[in-house]
Amino acid sequence: MPATVVVGAQWGDEGKGKITDHMAESADFVVRYQGGNNAGHTIVVGDERFALTLIPSGVLNPTVTPVIGNGCVIDPAVLITEMETLRSRGIDPDGVRISNNAHLIMPYHRKLDAVMERYLGRQQIGTTKRGIGPAYTDKFSRQGIRVQDLFDPKIFREKLEVALREKNLLLTKAYNQLPMEIGTIADEYLDMAEHIKPHVTDTSQLVWNALRDDKYVLFEGAQGTLLDIDHGTYPFVTSSSPTAGGVCAGIGIGPMEVGRVVGVAKAYISRVGSGPFPTELDDEVGERMVEKGGEFGTVTGRRRRCGWLDTVALRYAVRINGISEIAFTKIDVLSSFPTLKVAVGYRSGDETYDEFPRQQRVLYDCEPVYEEVEGWSEDISGIREYDDLPPQARNYIEFVEKLVGVPIATVSVGPARSATIAK
Ligand code: GDP
Ligand code: IMO
Ligand code: MG
Repeated sequence: MPATVVVGAQWGDEGKGKITDHMAESADFVVRYQGGNNAGHTIVVGDERFALTLIPSGVLNPTVTPVIGNGCVIDPAVLITEMETLRSRGIDPDGVRISNNAHLIMPYHRKLDAVMERYLGRQQIGTTKRGIGPAYTDKFSRQGIRVQDLFDPKIFREKLEVALREKNLLLTKAYNQLPMEIGTIADEYLDMAEHIKPHVTDTSQLVWNALRDDKYVLFEGAQGTLLDIDHGTYPFVTSSSPTAGGVCAGIGIGPMEVGRVVGVAKAYISRVGSGPFPTELDDEVGERMVEKGGEFGTVTGRRRRCGWLDTVALRYAVRINGISEIAFTKIDVLSSFPTLKVAVGYRSGDETYDEFPRQQRVLYDCEPVYEEVEGWSEDISGIREYDDLPPQARNYIEFVEKLVGVPIATVSVGPARSATIAK
């Protein structure tokens, strides 16, 4: 059975956690393939709310094996705490599987993330300060330390020593910080290794076997298309490949293994952190989206910037990921807006754009070209059948569907697992 990918089609926080958890009801494996604890995936089951940062959203389903692939970066202290928190809430995390090849987030990565942002001043990216960028930088400059190194103390200390030689120079000479002690870090990490060891395996082989055994494998993206290191609004992006293409490298399977790509998009759009945002609303309408949508970050608590749905960006996400269907979330938040606007193009000077512009400058100085559709006043959060939605809501969904050219197969009308409509 070909695998399914759930991917963020905007700037993150589209509701991937909710949609993944909903789809996980029939899945056997839920696999993270990139990112780390910069992600914040909120899942609501009954009266309980879970905010997962590193462990795949499938963990709430007892029949699912949650997998953290080699493409992820792992802060072991966060992983252990997340597993303990789940256990204390009656969820068994023993089945979590972690790649031996995933890279570790080290204390100097977190420190560097924070000081580099401070030094950037007004140019800062607005990262989550979890050490994500510096950890991926070390991976690609071949100075990273991997999960498997934790189980060979001699190699671990050697690699740590090499890394610290450079990092301490950077911290002390470039950023005016105190140096970090090898002994303290080594003791802390080697101690954590014992907790992690039972979970570590060759996750590529695990997923390969699952696919051969006709199991349902669901890949859960973190972040979103516009935060992708290659295809996003660089440099205001994360340091990994959240797009569907990231799956193959991030777990170690071939592209023919994927048969379905579900793009998760909010019925409006939000972004947290810096960077261009053509449909951003700096007015009471945007404020209402923040309030009604509870648009505050799961990880950092930061207020998310909000704006009207951007179908130029959404069409771009369809293309970049090969999205075969859309899960359209938070449409309940748009109830009682008298009219809804949808960006169908951008205008900059004499030029109009109906495709995502090649030159990023356009995203800063363009005006969105909007089409307006009628809103609805009813609360739709209790509706479970597509045909019971107000005609204006169906019209909005079908209007967007036509603009982006792929079906909206799922509509989400609330944070709860059950607040999901199959179209
Ligand atoms: P993710 O990072 O893509 O998993 O999204 P987040 O969990 O960071 O943010 C989405 C927020 O919206 C969470 O608080 C969810 O509980 C909530 N949510 C998800 N789907 C819906 C929906 O259809 N309606 C409403 N009102 N909230 C939703
Ligand atoms: P989920 O999976 C929204 C943003 C940060 C910042 C930029 C780089 O919950 O959708 P990083 O710490 O990754 O180096 O920060 O990316 N960012 C997210 N925004 N949702 C996320 O994850 C994000 N993860 C990172 O705000 O702008
Ligand atoms: Mg989130």
